[in-house]
Amino acid sequence: MGSASKCILMLLVLMICIQLIQCSVTYDSKALVINGQRRILFSGSIHYPRSTPQMWEDLIQKAKDGGLDVVDTYVFWNVHEPSPGNYNFEGRYDLVGFIKLVQKAGLYLHLRIGPYICGEWNFGGFPVWLKYIPGISFRTDNEPFKIAMQGFTEKIVQMMKDEKLFESQGGPIILSQIENEYGPESKKFGAAGHSYMTWAADMALELATGVPWVMCKEEDAPDPVIDTCNGFYCDYFSPNKPYKPTMWTEAWTGWFSEFGVPNHQRPAEDLAFAIARFIQKGGSFVNYYMYHGGTNFGRTAGGPFITTSYDYDAPIDEYGLVRQPKYDHLKELHKAVRLCEKTLVSADATVTSLGTYKQAHVFSSSEGCAAFLSNFNIKSSARITFNNMQYDLPPWSISILPDCKNVAFNTAKVGVKASEAQMSPTNVNLHSWGTFNEDVLLSNTDSEITVVGLLEQLNITRDTSDYLWYTTSVNINPSESFLHHGQNPSLSVQSAGHALHVFCNGQLSGSAFGTRTDRRFTYNGNVNLQAGSNIISLLSVAVGLPNNGPHFETWNTGVLGPVVLNGLDQGKMDLTWQKWSYQTGLKGEAMNLVSPSGISSVDWLTGSLATLKPQPLTWYKAYFRSPKGMDPLALDMHSMGKGQIWINGHNLGRYWTVFSSGDCSGCSYAGTYRPRFCQLGCGQPTQRWYHIPRSWLKPTHNLLVIFEEIGGDVSSISIVKRNIVDQ
Ligand code: GAL
Repeated sequence: MGSASKCILMLLVLMICIQLIQCSVTYDSKALVINGQRRILFSGSIHYPRSTPQMWEDLIQKAKDGGLDVVDTYVFWNVHEPSPGNYNFEGRYDLVGFIKLVQKAGLYLHLRIGPYICGEWNFGGFPVWLKYIPGISFRTDNEPFKIAMQGFTEKIVQMMKDEKLFESQGGPIILSQIENEYGPESKKFGAAGHSYMTWAADMALELATGVPWVMCKEEDAPDPVIDTCNGFYCDYFSPNKPYKPTMWTEAWTGWFSEFGVPNHQRPAEDLAFAIARFIQKGGSFVNYYMYHGGTNFGRTAGGPFITTSYDYDAPIDEYGLVRQPKYDHLKELHKAVRLCEKTLVSADATVTSLGTYKQAHVFSSSEGCAAFLSNFNIKSSARITFNNMQYDLPPWSISILPDCKNVAFNTAKVGVKASEAQMSPTNVNLHSWGTFNEDVLLSNTDSEITVVGLLEQLNITRDTSDYLWYTTSVNINPSESFLHHGQNPSLSVQSAGHALHVFCNGQLSGSAFGTRTDRRFTYNGNVNLQAGSNIISLLSVAVGLPNNGPHFETWNTGVLGPVVLNGLDQGKMDLTWQKWSYQTGLKGEAMNLVSPSGISSVDWLTGSLATLKPQPLTWYKAYFRSPKGMDPLALDMHSMGKGQIWINGHNLGRYWTVFSSGDCSGCSYAGTYRPRFCQLGCGQPTQRWYHIPRSWLKPTHNLLVIFEEIGGDVSSISIVKRNIVDQ
C-alpha cells in the first residue's frame, strides 16, 4: 500500500472513531458517558400532550434557563393509536415535533416509551381497545399483550430512527425507558412477571437504538439495562450492578391532585436537599417529575378522580409561568453542581462523620476537590469544622463547596424571592347564554340495549364517553301504604365507580361518588315514587380510568348492583335482575353540541331565562372575545357543580367543584425518607380554575360550551388571567 493510500485509510479510521465518540452514549459506574465524557445530568419531565405546541418552545427554553440538560417525556400510546392501526401524531400529539424543539434548544431527551406509563393518565396510557383483544392480560407473560406492546414500541423506535433522533444518529435522545416501575408488579406476578420483564428488556435491546435503556424501579433489570430509582429521596438507592451509574428517573417535585383532596406543596428546600443528598452519594442523573406538569385536557386524566390540572407544584406551573422560589433555587443548585461536575464524576466520595447527624462527603481527584457538608438534624442547626474552617449548617441542609473551601450553595438558604401567582379578572363578558336540557333516559325505545341484569360500563361505552345510562321501570301498587301516609321508599344502588346521578321519573333524586383509592360506593336515598309505572334512570359517570394497580384492566366500572328498593309493604324489592336499558353517552355529545359546527343542531333557550336557575343535566353555551395581552387564561368555575368544558370544540377537561377535606395547618416534617409536605386549600374546591390555552382562541366569537351534571350558576363563571405578584 502506498503512503498516500495509507494516509487516506488512517484518516478514514480516524473519522469513524470521531464519529463513534461524537455520537455515542454509554455508561460506567459513575455516569452516563456522552461523546466520551462522563456527565452529571439534570433532567425535567415535560409531557407534550399536557400543553399545546404553541407553549412547547417557551417551556423548553425555561427548562434550559433553569439549568437542565435533558427533557424527559413519556410516550402516550392511547392518544397516538385511538383505534388499532389508526395513528395520530398531530397537534398536541406531535411527538417528533416536540423532540425537534428540544434538539433545537440544544438539550437532550429521555424517551420513556413504556408503553405502560402510569402518569395519572387515562388507563396508564393503554388504549382501551387493548383490553378487548381476545385472551389479553396486561403487563405479564401473555402473547397477545406482548405482540401489541412490541408493535407499538417498534413503531415509536422506527419513527425516531427515521428522523435521526437518537444520539447515536446525531439526535438528542440519549436514553429510553421500557416499562415503568414494573418491579413491585413483577413480584406479585411471580415467575410470569419475571419472564415478561426479561422479555421486555430483550425486546427493547433488539431494537438497537444505540443509546442505553433504563427500567425504573426494577431491581432485576438485566444487563445492560440500567435500573433506576423513583421517589421523594433516592440516596438509599444503588443500581443492581456496580458498573452501572446511579440514576434517579423521578424526583417528585410535588404531587398530583385528586378531586376532594387538598393540593400538595413540596418546599424548594426539601427538594434541593433531596437532590444534593443524591449527588453526594454518587448519583449522576436526576429527572424532576414534573418540571412542568401542565393540564390533563379532555378526558385524559386517569385515576379515577385525578384533577384536570396536573400542576404538581412543579418549578414551571400549569400555565407555563416559573414558580419561585422553586425554579431559581434549583437553578442555583444546578450551577453549584456544574462548578464541580468534573471532580464529582472522577472520584468516589470519602465520607467523614462530623458528629451526630453531620457528615462531610469529599470528592478529590486530579480535577480538583469538592465537598458536600450535611446536617441531617431536622430541627437544629449545626456549626462544624471542616479543613480548619467553620461552617454553619441550617437544619436538614447540605452545603456545596465546589472547591472544598467556599460555599456556593446551601439547600436550606433560599436567596430567591417567593412569587405568588394570582388570578385576576379580565373585562371579558360571557354573553348570549343559551341552555339546552339533556334528556333523562326514560324509556327503552331510545336505548341501545335492553337486557336482564346489570352490565359493566366499559364493556358498553368502550370509553367513548364518560356517561352510561341504566334505566328500568318499577310498578307501584296504588294500595302501597307509603302513598297514603309515611315516608317514600329508599333506593340503594351499589356501584363499582366512579360517580352516579339517580333520577326518578326524570327528576334528580341525588348523587354519590367514589374516591381514587376506593372507587366503589353505595348510593342511598329516598325516591319519589308514584302509583303505577315509575322510571328509575341511573347516570353512571366515569371520572378517569385507573392508571395503576395489578391488572387494572380487569377492574369494573358502573352499576353492578345490587339495586334494591326498601320500605315497600312487601319489604324490599330487588331490581338487580329486572330488565335494564342502556344508552352510551349524552344526546348533546351525539349531536356534537360541543363544537362550532354542531352547536346549532338544537334550539337553545336564550335570554335571561336561560341562566335563571341551577338545574341538572344542562348544556350551556356562551360567546366571548379573547382577552387582550399574553397572560395565560383560565375559567373560574367556582359556581358550578360537575361536568365538562369545551372552547371552540377543544375539550378543556372535566371540572368538579368538590370541596377538599383535610388538615392544612402547617407542613409535615420531613423524615429520613419522608418528604416535607404542605397541604393547601382545605375547605376549598380542589380545582377552581381551568386553563384555556391562548392558542385555542380567536379574537372574537369564541364558543364556550359547558355540560353541567348536577346544577350550577353560570352567571358567575368568569374568564381570568394568571399573573405573578412579587412578594
Ligand atoms: C410514579 C409513576 C409516575 C407517576 C408518579 C406519581 O410511581 O412512575 O408515572 O404516576 O408515580 O405522580
